[in-house]
Amino acid sequence: MKNIIILGSTGSIGASTLDIVAKFPNRFSVLGLVAGTSDEKLEEQIRTFHPKVVALADATAARRLRARIVESPVEILDGPQGVIEVACHPESDLVISAIVGGAGLVPTLAAIRAGRRVALANKEPMVMAGQLMQEEAHRQGQSIFPVDSEHSAIFQSIEGHRREDVRRIILTASGGPFWEHSLEEMGQATLHQALQHPNWKMGAKITIDSATMMNKGLEIIEARWLFDCPPAQLEVLIHRESIIHSLVEYRDGSVIAQLGLPDMRTPISYAMNYPERLPLEPPPLDLGAIGKLTFYPPDFERFPCLNLAYEALQGGGTLPATLNAANEVAVDAFLKKEIAFLDIVTVIRRTIDASVPQPLRSLEDALEADQRAREKASQFIHSHA
Ligand SMILES: NC(=O)c1ccc[n+]([C@@H]2O[C@H](COP(=O)([O-])OP(=O)(O)OC[C@H]3O[C@@H](n4cnc5c(N)ncnc54)[C@H](OP(=O)(O)O)[C@@H]3O)[C@@H](O)[C@H]2O)c1
Repeated sequence: MKNIIILGSTGSIGASTLDIVAKFPNRFSVLGLVAGTSDEKLEEQIRTFHPKVVALADATAARRLRARIVESPVEILDGPQGVIEVACHPESDLVISAIVGGAGLVPTLAAIRAGRRVALANKEPMVMAGQLMQEEAHRQGQSIFPVDSEHSAIFQSIEGHRREDVRRIILTASGGPFWEHSLEEMGQATLHQALQHPNWKMGAKITIDSATMMNKGLEIIEARWLFDCPPAQLEVLIHRESIIHSLVEYRDGSVIAQLGLPDMRTPISYAMNYPERLPLEPPPLDLGAIGKLTFYPPDFERFPCLNLAYEALQGGGTLPATLNAANEVAVDAFLKKEIAFLDIVTVIRRTIDASVPQPLRSLEDALEADQRAREKASQFIHSHA
């Protein structure tokens, strides 16, 4: 029986993880859950999965929860310290890191520092401070296990091979809802259109990141640290059907890929139960019925967020943290209908241009860059309004 902690249990990845727990009650037990403000969803999860401890980042939401479940023995913590306490719980066998955004950095790094085994869906901390997270994991004798479908595919295609034989790592991308749109059309894109991902059902922030293709940019940076791969070896390939989740090319010309229907339960369950594969029994992958898989090179002109991510990766230091924070602020403003779709990239560009990158030596360096970029990006948004 594995004791699981889920950071971000009320989100899309959190719900899929709990689906797997419910399907395999003899293998997994929920030790702890963490959410931001969703006390009602968390209450349902407590009543179904009986965790020992939970935390809500928002103290008011935690007070509401305590008032409603007085009869349960669950310990309810709150605030950033409560979240960290659950993340570092000494009885956990696995922490699924699935908070959205940079808010996941401090608790995820705390879990790694406490020697906990971490499966990472929350890509933003790797973007902000991938090097520090990996150094800490190595110090603890742990490796950070990928959950993102592309990184799980890379892991599955690279395992058992010599790292020096790898020529390229190719991350596939669906292209999102606007792949066939011109820049002029994207200029008029509504929030509703941007939230219509062609293949995946995910949280709002990552869905918008997929529409701008910043998601792929963040994943390139994540792959750089997860697989210790030089940026020049990391490429993007548009693959509209999201069946091939990523590919690894070797120097003898062999290309190994992982395929599957787009369902996050596959990579999540692999991370939860590695190396054994769980009998999830999804519908078979019927390539005969699918007929053809389509591929295109990425379009850096219509999707400049990809360029920005490569630029931040090359620049190094605190630049990726700046990129990430500016993106979070801009996406949030778009979700609130404060800016237009194409303003997202403008806000990020201006924030990066106005920033002075610093070396990344500590968590504090990353958090300072994050804070400064959030302030700058907000200023740009409000001067634009
Ligand atoms: N969804 C996918 O298919 C997918 C695939 C690959 C990677 N990812 C990555 O996984 C992460 C989660 O994505 P998602 O789509 O599951 O997001 P989501 O549906 O928006 O869920 C986010 C979760 O984070 C919690 N949260 C937000 N702010 C918090 C804070 N300050 N402290 C503690 N918890 C907080 C939310 O709680 P509340 O409900 O209370 O707000 C919720 O449980 C992202 O980094 C994303 O890039 C997602």
